[in-house]
Formats: sequence, C-alpha cells, structure tokens
Amino acid sequence: MRSSLSVVSRRAQPNDAQLNKDQLLARLQARTAAVGIIGLGYVGLPLALLFNEESVPVRGFDVDAQKVDVLSQGGSYIHRIPASEIQVARERGFAATADFSKLAEVDVIIICVPTPLNEHRDPDLSYIVKTAEAIAPHLRAGHLVILESTTYPGTTEEVLVPILENNNPQRIKACRATIAPDGDFYVAFSPEREDPGNDTVARREIPKVVGGLDPKAAELGSALYGSIFNRVVQVSTPAAAEMTKLLENIYRCVNIALVNELKLLCLRMGVDIWEVIEAASTKPFGFQPFYPGPGLGGHCIPVDPFYLSWKAKHFDFHTRFIELAGEINTAMPYHVLRSVVDALNERQKSLKGAKILVLGIAYKKDIDDLRESPSLTIIELLRKQGAEVSYNDPYFPFVGKGRKYDLGMHSVPLDNLGQYECVLIVTDHSDYDYPKIVRDSQLVVDTRNATRGITAKNVVRC
Ligand SMILES: NC(=O)c1ccc[n+]([C@@H]2O[C@H](COP(=O)([O-])OP(=O)(O)OC[C@H]3O[C@@H](n4cnc5c(N)ncnc54)[C@H](O)[C@@H]3O)[C@@H](O)[C@H]2O)c1
Repeated sequence: MRSSLSVVSRRAQPNDAQLNKDQLLARLQARTAAVGIIGLGYVGLPLALLFNEESVPVRGFDVDAQKVDVLSQGGSYIHRIPASEIQVARERGFAATADFSKLAEVDVIIICVPTPLNEHRDPDLSYIVKTAEAIAPHLRAGHLVILESTTYPGTTEEVLVPILENNNPQRIKACRATIAPDGDFYVAFSPEREDPGNDTVARREIPKVVGGLDPKAAELGSALYGSIFNRVVQVSTPAAAEMTKLLENIYRCVNIALVNELKLLCLRMGVDIWEVIEAASTKPFGFQPFYPGPGLGGHCIPVDPFYLSWKAKHFDFHTRFIELAGEINTAMPYHVLRSVVDALNERQKSLKGAKILVLGIAYKKDIDDLRESPSLTIIELLRKQGAEVSYNDPYFPFVGKGRKYDLGMHSVPLDNLGQYECVLIVTDHSDYDYPKIVRDSQLVVDTRNATRGITAKNVVRC
C-alpha cells in the first residue's frame, strides 16, 4: 500500500519556483503528490474518493467535526456513498481532519466549499473567504491551490489570491503570467461538473476544465486532473473556467424556463407538452430536451446564474435572460398551488382544511438533497392557505430546519392514501408505484408527468 501522506518540508524559495514546479509536476505524474480537499460535501467527498481509487494520496478537511467523525469511523453521510466505500478508502490511506495545520503536509489544496446566495440574493463568498484565511497560515512555496466552488468570473484572482498572498506569514506570492512569473505558489480554477443521481456517465468520462493563473498552474492542474479524468480541457484563465461553469448552468436554467413557460401555454391550449418534447427530441441535430417541473431546485441551477448577474452589474450590464428565466422558474410553485386549488375546486372542495400529501421532498428524483427544493416552497404555500400537509420521501425520514425553512415534519407511510383530499407528486422518485398511487388516491396532481401512460379521471397533470 502507498503511504497516504508523504510530508515534504520545503521553505519559501522565491527563486526556485521553476524547480518547485518541476518537482511537483513529477510528483503529480507519478501520483505521489498528496492532495488535500477542503469541504467534504456532495462535491468534495466523491472527488476525494476518486483520487483515492486512483491511488493518489488524499486527505479531506472540513470544519464540520461531525462529518469528520463519521468518516473517521468509516461511516458515510451521503446516501449514494455507502459506508463500505469509505472503509475501503480508509484502508487505502484516506483520512479526514478538521486540523488545517495538516495542509502544510499536502502538495495540492482543492477547495470545494459552498457558494450560496445571501438574503438579498447576492453571492455569499464567506465560505471561500474563510477557507482562504484558513489556508494562508499554512501556505508554502510549491503549493498548488485550486478552487472548485462555482462562482462568478474573477473570484479566484480578485478574492482568493489576495487573501492567500496577504495572510501567509512568509509573504510568498502566486505565480502570475505577467506580474509575478517567478511567484512561489500556483493557483487555478476548475469547475465541478457532477450531475447528482446520473449514473449513465462515469465520473472520469466527464472532461475537466482547468484555467490556471499562469501557464505553470495550468500545466500542474492538468497533470493533477489527468490522473483521475480521461480528458482535461485547458482554458486561458481562471475567469474563463469560472465563466464556463456559469454558461453551462445558465444554459440549463434558461432552457428549463423556456419549457416551463411553454408548458403553461400548452395547458391552456390543451396540448400535451411532454408529447411535444418527446417528438422534438427525435430531431438528430439542433435540439436538446429539457423538461418542465414544479420549479427549480438544487444548489446550482437556482443559484449560480445570480452570481453572474451580480457581477455583470459591475460592468453596467443587465443579464436579461437570467432575470427572465429566474422570474418564470420561481413562479412555478405558485402554478402548482393554483393547480391544486383548481383541482379541488372542480371536486367542490376547498384547500383550506384539506389533507394534502406531498410526494417527494428532494429537489429531483432518486437523490438525498433538498437544497432549494420546490417541495419546500410548495409545502409552505399550501400551509399558508390552510391545508393540512404531510409528505413522503424515502430519502428524508425527517425534515427539520434549514436556512430558509423550518418544517419539523416526519415522512408518513404510503398506506391509506384515500384519506388525503389530494396526493401531489412533486418529486418523481423511481421507487414509487405510480399505478397503485393513482388507484388508492382520491385525487392525484402530477407536476412531473410521473403518471404518464395512466388514464384515470382522478389524475390532473400540471
Ligand atoms: N452538489 C452539486 O451537485 C454541485 C455540482 C457542481 C458544483 N457544485 C459547487 O460545489 C461547491 C460545493 O458544493 P457542495 O454541494 O459539495 O456543498 P456541500 O454543502 O455539500 O459541502 C460543502 C462542505 O464544505 C464544508 N465547509 C464549509 N465551510 C468550510 C470551511 N470554511 N472550511 C472547510 N470546510 C467547509 C461544509 O461543512 C460541507 O461539508 C459549491 O460551490 C457548489 O455550487 C455543487
């Protein structure tokens, strides 16, 4: 077994940055460079496991002591990562810690911390800032620091690098192509492209985009990711890599808004939008299907576009597509509410006092992530109108308090569905038996076309 962390003691030697780069490159190519991953969440933990699988020495860092404890005991807190995978990784040398002084022992530092929006829907970079401040005291010449958190173009250069440079005790500098070609440490940005719940593409098949602050950082970053990904795509700057990620997510956000709007029109016209999308998808070029739903969810699509619109304002630029898509997508839970009210009304019932069962609280099917889930908004809206709401989700036995909600609800069993005035499908988990749900329920309102192929009078698709 390879030694998990080879400690290399090196001092700041501003004049031999080139040598450091070659040494590091040789280590990366030999897979002996030690990698430290900060932030062991949905992105950081799978990335750590991927390095570990490929025999790259890796150590995880997190401020959440509970997560560190779970991993140290060979457990997992992410549904799709079984504990056995953590145990195998630990046998191969993977360890997690909350002790940031251990950063001095790794050669590469990858940052995978959250980048949410604050209460004004502006970027909240506090996690990146705190992480940079935690790295700086342990920074040394030859370190390669890579930011993976999704953020606006300019973050790496304008936020991360200044904190690292101004707070490290040795006052070492980052290598920049023009200003400091002989700098001491290397910096790059490389976006994460994971698609939670998607098992059709192997992780290493997803090309990895890398933008270095200078060509040396780009070369080092490419060598690092080349050990775990089949293809690395170099772009000229960290800003280009930051923008690449945002383009990908804005593309999704805008196209989802487009089909959501067309769905509303189709409903009025009596046309089945799902049938239309299926037919359009047969075109072998120039069309990619996107699907309507109850609203956007997840950490990325509802959040990331606003990182760019915020930054665009500094350039006196108004990102109209992003704003319009945001407007349409955030209105979808209200459309769902309206559809439930109408369906009950049709049956001479009112929402006030009605027992409603929401199926699925995760933001999309078959995953254990409820961040920004439209279910949360829909439950809140239904409750505000006086409905008595329950939920079922095999991935969430209990939902307590989050940043924007405070539900305190337990998942209820799927028996006795007839007691509910309405069963509302918000997340189309594969485990649900939809024909049985339709059979056993008084009324089913389906926001995902999960009941496709079922013809029944008690089904309303919205
Ligand atoms: N989840 C996804 O599918 C996905 C996909 C692509 C990109 N991203 C981006 O990746 C980044 C991370 O997302 P995530 O889903 O893994 O988030 P997450 O909340 O699941 O995990 C973040 C981890 O960082 C830790 N953390 C917070 N502050 C820290 C600090 N100062 N030092 C060390 N650890 C700290 C948290 O405890 C947590 O374990 C975000 O920028 C996100 O936009 C996420």
